[in-house]
Amino acid sequence: MANTVLIGAQWGDEGKGKIIDLLTEDHDWIIRYQGGHNAGHTVEIGDQRYVLHLLPSGILHEGKKCIIGHGVVIDILSLLSEMDEVVGRGLTVEGRLFVSDRAHLIFPYHRLLDENREFTAATKDKIGTTKRGIGPAYADKSSRTGLRAGDLLEADFPDRLRRRIQDYNRQLEILGADIADEDELVRQYTEAARRLKPYIADTISLLNKAADSGESILFEGAQGTMLDIDYGTYPFVTSSSATAGGACTGGGLAPRRVDRVLGVIKAYATRVGEGPFPTELDNSEGAALRNAGNEYGATTGRPRRCGWFDNVVARYSAMVNGVDAWALTKLDVLDEVDIIKICVGYKYEGKTFDVVPARVRILEKCTPVYESFEGWKTPTSGVTSYGDLPERAKAYIERLEALTGVPVAMISVGPGREHSLVREEVATADHGRAS
Ligand code: IMP
Repeated sequence: MANTVLIGAQWGDEGKGKIIDLLTEDHDWIIRYQGGHNAGHTVEIGDQRYVLHLLPSGILHEGKKCIIGHGVVIDILSLLSEMDEVVGRGLTVEGRLFVSDRAHLIFPYHRLLDENREFTAATKDKIGTTKRGIGPAYADKSSRTGLRAGDLLEADFPDRLRRRIQDYNRQLEILGADIADEDELVRQYTEAARRLKPYIADTISLLNKAADSGESILFEGAQGTMLDIDYGTYPFVTSSSATAGGACTGGGLAPRRVDRVLGVIKAYATRVGEGPFPTELDNSEGAALRNAGNEYGATTGRPRRCGWFDNVVARYSAMVNGVDAWALTKLDVLDEVDIIKICVGYKYEGKTFDVVPARVRILEKCTPVYESFEGWKTPTSGVTSYGDLPERAKAYIERLEALTGVPVAMISVGPGREHSLVREEVATADHGRAS
């Protein structure tokens, strides 16, 4: 099977966890390449529900190997507790999980700084972060002051951590924020380092050796294109490269070895946190989507902002990620909707256009131009093949394909593995990359 990159094409929460879980069967290795425990991938297997934040979803499949790549920022206490949880549910992690020695670490002082920034920012400047310390940890990485997983293997790790805590506490004190408990943190993290050591590896060599020997790799994107640090609605973004390019820079495989890119789109749109969202429905229609789709953050529990599918965003995502095919999720959430809309352009100062502007000040003033569709008003979650979907649902999907210029290979009509329709002819098509 091909090396596959899976990305979210909207603002995250597209339902990637389930699609990754389905694709895992066809791959030997599953790797997370960016983000941290700000992500929440929900996977339902039978009557079991798993919410994974840092562990690649492949951990739920015994026999598959998983990597946390160097593009990820790791809160080791959070990782260890997630490992304990999956082990508690009867899965193994030993010999199956490898943590990059180059991955940067998140410490409580990052979280305290993140919380403080969010707390003190003027309303218009709030990002609405998950307050997990993601931004400050990536800032340390770029400032070249971060600690990496490989540093946990060094004898002087406790001293280096202590110096960082002291530095940060000085900053936090100036800001009037809570400070970290130096002795307690050094003790906690020295113990955590001892536990994590056996999992730390040179994952770049590991991954490339696996690829050389013909094993296949699935890159598990977190967040989404519009939250990418470069491509997203900056500054209302996360601090990592959530797009397909990030799979190479944060995973460790060269671009030419990626065979296909699968994008995940939800049949409507959601966003958590602040920032422009042109198709947002801040009304009863949005509330109905939130209820039907259970749109509450898997990590923070925050209600998600809901709106119509935005084709300007989807086309942009298809372009910047080089998407070969879509996985379309949560189609069933639209089952009861009378009139469904797709945004096909933005209006700004009397002009209509169909590209995502770089400046959020423009994007927040854009009003959507919609195409409307009669809803199918028929339950779809029991449907098992594409041909059996209601005609109006197929028309909606085919319009999405025409507008985005990308075929839909998979459709999800419910949370379980069984609620998945695969269009084999699209899913197995040679996208002209493999040599
Ligand atoms: P941070 O990643 O915690 O710094 O948050 C930055 C922005 O990304 C905020 O708007 C968050 O709500 C959003 N965000 C981060 N992770 C996710 C996710 O997994 N799904 C959806 N939004 C996310």
